[in-house]
Amino acid sequence: DSLKIYFLSRHIKYLLFFNICLRLVFLSGFFHVNKSILSAELVTSLTPCCVKTNIMFLKTHKTTSSTILNILFQFTEKHNLTIALPADQLVHLGYPETFMTRFVEEFQTIGQNYNIMCNHLRFNHLEVRSVNTFYFSIPRNPVSQLESSYVYYKDAAPAFRTSRDVNEYLASPMDYYHKGNYKENIYAKNNMWFDFGCNNNAEDNESYIQAVLEKLEQNFHLVLIADYFDESRILLKHTLCWDLDDVVYFKLNSRMWCSLDWKLYLHFNQSFWKRIQETMGLDELEKEVNLLRARQKELMETCLSDQRPVEKTRVEDKALMPFQSEAANILSYNLNQDLDNRSLTAYQKMVMPELHYMSYFYALQHPHEKGK
Ligand SMILES: *[C@@H]1O[C@H](CO)[C@@H](O)[C@H](O)[C@H]1NC(C)=O
Ligand SMILES: *[C@@H]1O[C@H](CO)[C@@H](O)[C@H](O)[C@H]1NC(C)=O
Ligand SMILES: *[C@@H]1O[C@H](CO)[C@@H](O)[C@H](O)[C@H]1NC(C)=O
Ligand SMILES: *[C@@H]1O[C@H](CO)[C@@H](O)[C@H](O)[C@H]1NC(C)=O
Ligand SMILES: *[C@@H]1O[C@H](CO)[C@@H](O)[C@H](O)[C@H]1NC(C)=O
Repeated sequence: DSLKIYFLSRHIKYLLFFNICLRLVFLSGFFHVNKSILSAELVTSLTPCCVKTNIMFLKTHKTTSSTILNILFQFTEKHNLTIALPADQLVHLGYPETFMTRFVEEFQTIGQNYNIMCNHLRFNHLEVRSVNTFYFSIPRNPVSQLESSYVYYKDAAPAFRTSRDVNEYLASPMDYYHKGNYKENIYAKNNMWFDFGCNNNAEDNESYIQAVLEKLEQNFHLVLIADYFDESRILLKHTLCWDLDDVVYFKLNSRMWCSLDWKLYLHFNQSFWKRIQETMGLDELEKEVNLLRARQKELMETCLSDQRPVEKTRVEDKALMPFQSEAANILSYNLNQDLDNRSLTAYQKMVMPELHYMSYFYALQHPHEKGK
């Protein structure tokens, strides 16, 4: 009986929720007539929260975006959503090619019904345009982004391969960076600018930068900042009406030279903090960041046998071992084996490397295709 009541109350909750969401649609249509007559604060207080489930995440390289990917994968499972996965034997959505829908598995049949798209792609707003979808991304300070890129793509990018270390490379980049190797060298200059679909070798001038940033402002509903990762997750949760547990994770994974990336970063760093001021305020942010950190600590204590990440040679469950680039030693976790089966499965997902998690979804959604 208690089970019945539980389901009934859940049902009622959903009905109420649906009703509120419907009203919101009417209200927002109404407010759109002249948004500027309402202050941001008033709109926020009038707006009930509807969990957003249609999401496009632009995953930029070496910017903690694998963690966001894991968060989105778990959200996908929790809400039984459909995810746009790379077609055939691809592991990315065509990257570094500019995104085309044909890079998505079964796009012709499932097409408009995908809820989540988050694997690596080079942004192309003409191909991913969708009215009800929430677009977001997370750039990082280009100095640390390039350093991290250098280590990870040391053997992949000719400009990195032929220099001794990142300092030598940045001391005279033109000795190592040749536009002829354009495709292999995208990690070596303005890589985030490239991921956002722009020309990473473009000239840095005011009118061009402004035009690109304006276009990005139009295409993205939210741009987070990796260097403020906890604050970013709180703002994401707040904007998408998610729960705190939806954004808990376990951490997996040259100003002049990358001047386009630097401008991108400064711009979105400013709009990030402005958005926080306008929506939740700094006090609320601090309160929730503290809650998030406490919750994360609590979960780590129950779920992990070593409280810290371990090196690849010490990962006990080989299914949890991340893809290893030659140069970068990526850390992983060992799980506490005393847990009950359900918790173990749930926690496994929290530490599962992205390629494993992606193949898991691929087998689930496309059972007739050859697995990855
Ligand atoms: C709507 O807002 C704009 C810009 O603030 C203003 O110029 C215009 O008069 C407003 N329209 C109405 C109907 O209030
Ligand atoms: C999840 O969705 C699929 C189809 O999209 C459906 O067949 C299945 O029953 C759903 N599972 C749950 C637990 O809602
Ligand atoms: C600015 O840079 C863009 C992109 O490289 C270029 O197309 C444009 O001609 C430049 N404009 C000026 C005034 O230099
Ligand atoms: C980003 O914004 C914060 C808050 O305004 C500021 O303290 C910080 O210096 C900014 N970072 C950069 C690199 O400008
Ligand atoms: C736990 O899961 C494993 C495999 O995932 C299964 O073989 C085993 O029977 C499960 N144990 C219980 C008690 O459900």
